[in-house]
Amino acid sequence: MKKILTIVGARPQFVKAAVLSRLIRSHTWRNQFQEILLHTGQHYDENMSEIFFRDMQIPKPDIHLKIGGLSHGVMTGQMLIEIEAALLLEKPDLVLVYGDTNSTLAGALAAAKLHIPVAHVEAGLRSYNKRMPEEQNRILTDHLATWCFCPTETAVSNLKNEGITQGVHQVGDIMYDATLFYLQVIEKEKQQGINRLQALALPPHFLLTTIHRAENTDDLHRLHSITEALNALPTDVVLPLHPRTLKKITEAGLHLKPHVRLLEPVGYLEMVELESLSSAIITDSGGVQKEAYFMHKPCITLRDETEWVETVHSGWNTLVGANTEKILHAISTAQTPPTQATFYGDGNTATRILQQLAERF
Ligand code: UD1
Ligand code: UDP
Repeated sequence: MKKILTIVGARPQFVKAAVLSRLIRSHTWRNQFQEILLHTGQHYDENMSEIFFRDMQIPKPDIHLKIGGLSHGVMTGQMLIEIEAALLLEKPDLVLVYGDTNSTLAGALAAAKLHIPVAHVEAGLRSYNKRMPEEQNRILTDHLATWCFCPTETAVSNLKNEGITQGVHQVGDIMYDATLFYLQVIEKEKQQGINRLQALALPPHFLLTTIHRAENTDDLHRLHSITEALNALPTDVVLPLHPRTLKKITEAGLHLKPHVRLLEPVGYLEMVELESLSSAIITDSGGVQKEAYFMHKPCITLRDETEWVETVHSGWNTLVGANTEKILHAISTAQTPPTQATFYGDGNTATRILQQLAERF
């Protein structure tokens, strides 16, 4: 029996762990792998953390470090200290990290220093913008990892360009597994008469928006241009707002018109349903860009570059930065291309990861 210590801390990591942690505990795999789940505490509000564990039935974390709401250095440093202590105590055979957050880097670094193999899920993504904290985190994590589980062909070739070829496996995108699984959960809930969005009394047509990327929230000029575009839209907008963005909008005294419906961050099941009901999606989120693709919705991305280049090349995603005119133009011309390629696998990414680990480990 191999002991995996999985590290999560931020919202997108809960979504990814929901799939893999369930599979590790399933009848098929529970005799081969045991999982210890560690939550760093990077995200800590009820609707940024607990709601995902509850609604997605993610196992309760075995270790909760409660390290959140801090600057990059302090957060990453404290995580490094406490994850190292947890690893010394638990002595796992493998540390599994997801994505590109400070929790990812702290986990990978603590493990690598102790010579514990690291598996990186969602490896090989690059924006080629080294100012992004996520780019710094993912480059370092890929170079520390023993196993790089890549979602796409592009990710594999990005790693090759950096000389990483050992332990690289293209397995598909685990967020696609999550979307397919939870769409079924939503369908079952509907059959039981549960409608999670009923209380919101949504308009019949709306654009779904999320904004949280540091480059947009911490640059007042960009934040102002984005809110100006949302205010100028002729359509209703639904905007579940990340706490960091709410804080910045409030501090800057920016106002959103009534057709921009502000919500608290919503749980994953609500979010997937909002995506499916929306006419198009405006976002700076990595995960939401892909979910727009999974849901066959046009995506307008509030960034100057993206890691998910396939969505752009295939015509499903348009990069507009934070330029008001470009945002409005992209919305008014948004179209649904007639076809979609399967860039992100077949929804069996989690199984492929465990198969690779079981074979080689
Ligand atoms: C982090 C990740 C980013 C990811 C995002 C997912 C890093 C460097 N960034 O960004 O890659 O896309 O999570 O959402 O790891 N806050 C709260 N309550 C919470 C969480 C955050 O109020 O539950 C506020 C705090 O003021 C906090 C700020 O948001 O300081 C930023 O949170 P942080 O975790 O540092 O970064 P995110 O912007 O969430
Ligand atoms: N998400 C959610 N509720 C929200 C906003 C996002 O459940 O209010 C989900 C979204 O569907 C996706 C994940 O959170 O699965 C993406 O996380 P986020 O945008 O915070 O981070 P990123 O993917 O940019 O790292």
